[in-house]
Amino acid sequence: MTMQDALREAQRQNDELLKSRNDRWYPQFHIAARAGWINDPNGLSYHNGRYHVYFQHHPAGTEWGPMHWGHVSSADLVTWRREPIALAPSIEEDRDGVFSGSAVSMPDGTLMAYYTGHVERVEGVREGEQHQILATSHDDGITFAKERVILSAPGHPDFRDPKVWQIGDTWYMVVGASSKERRGQVWLYSSTDMRDWTFDRVIYEDPDPDVYMLECPDLFELDGKWVMLYGPMTTAQPRGYANRNGHNTGCVVGTWAPGEVFTTEHEFRPADWGHSYYAPQTFVAPDGRRIVLGWLGGFTLPLASQAADGWSGQMTLFRELRLGDDGRLRANPVREVEQLRRETIDFGAMDLPLDEEKVLLEDADGVEIELEVDLSESTAEQIGLNVHRTSEGRATWVAYDDLAGRVTLDRRTTGPTDGGYRSAPFDGGSRLKLRVFVDRGSVEVFTGDGAEVLSSQSFPVDGPRSVSIKASMGDAKVTTLRVHRLGTIWESPDR
Ligand code: FRU
Repeated sequence: MTMQDALREAQRQNDELLKSRNDRWYPQFHIAARAGWINDPNGLSYHNGRYHVYFQHHPAGTEWGPMHWGHVSSADLVTWRREPIALAPSIEEDRDGVFSGSAVSMPDGTLMAYYTGHVERVEGVREGEQHQILATSHDDGITFAKERVILSAPGHPDFRDPKVWQIGDTWYMVVGASSKERRGQVWLYSSTDMRDWTFDRVIYEDPDPDVYMLECPDLFELDGKWVMLYGPMTTAQPRGYANRNGHNTGCVVGTWAPGEVFTTEHEFRPADWGHSYYAPQTFVAPDGRRIVLGWLGGFTLPLASQAADGWSGQMTLFRELRLGDDGRLRANPVREVEQLRRETIDFGAMDLPLDEEKVLLEDADGVEIELEVDLSESTAEQIGLNVHRTSEGRATWVAYDDLAGRVTLDRRTTGPTDGGYRSAPFDGGSRLKLRVFVDRGSVEVFTGDGAEVLSSQSFPVDGPRSVSIKASMGDAKVTTLRVHRLGTIWESPDR
């Protein structure tokens, strides 16, 4: 089958699945496929005047399956247009999937996409293989021609997710790999023409011997340091806050220069503490900001939307990355997100008395909440917001817990499935600052100017979703409380 035929067939199957889409949890201001499964963001780029997001996509079903690259684009990072599916399996080297990868915009108008072609292992028939493949687009990233296989690693069935960048006249590529000893590594390649690539070195190995593969590595310079962002796949049991999502995502910050290995300055830290965050990829906006986009979903946890709604998985908000004075990564929603605000309700400062729940909004489908509390003037054990609050006391509780000194996202009562709770450390002193984004099927929490983030899918039961605030077992001095109703990101309301 040619790729054109494969794409036509994928589009037809996706149209079919779309008929069954249920919108009760379908995102209003997060990128999702119009129908079908998505996982990792791919090929993030600004090319010929538009931002491009490609993504791992199974167009024919709500489970992970034969991977394609879905595609959406935007002129301003706010309003998005759906584009035709961009890449489908069609050659021997990607017969079982067009896996994750990156894209580079060239001055001559070409978009160069580097992805992993996946060949599944079949017991007694063949070993699994993964190849790095170059595909190019000459029509603004809409259609691609597969040019050639650029890298293979015989004997290494885990060898994937190329990320390409340039320094001076040289191109660099990092690829996630599993060594012969089953250690999680990042391999570095270089090239001067973007087509012939030479192995440079193993640039990084995760120090944890339980980690056997590093997915979606991204190495980039930020505020004078280098950041290695990746998803360590581990055989270790979940313990404490670690490995609760099967595989977690995080980073190490350190130093690197061409010709060197990457040297870390601290231990691995999670990039997000919620239930649903994986496979983030970064890119540089035209104004130089380093922006990250992650997959707000997961492989291991049950997903209510998967069962009956015709779609599954979404992207996070775009987050601008900076290094804090403490050398840690900080992630805040890009400023463009403020353009989604349609109406602002300013509650000003207020004293919250002991255990009194105050309803802020009766019907909140898509909102952003800004909350600041003076903790030095508050005695409550927990101060927080009930979002996705429906009947019978059901809600997702987003709160500062003064006993634990953490910010908690608790979905234990939200709906019949996808429960549990998570929490992130909080060291913001006496000023609690939270920015909470509530979409129809997710909650994203930014604490203390982006020091920590929690992203979780959240699936409320039927009926209007309200938002309330409450201080429990004590009082709270709220200094700022604003709720913004947010609009849609889609250019046209069609599906
Ligand atoms: C991460 C990942 C990548 C791979 C892709 C396949 O979520 O497993 O390593 O390229 O998803 O869909």
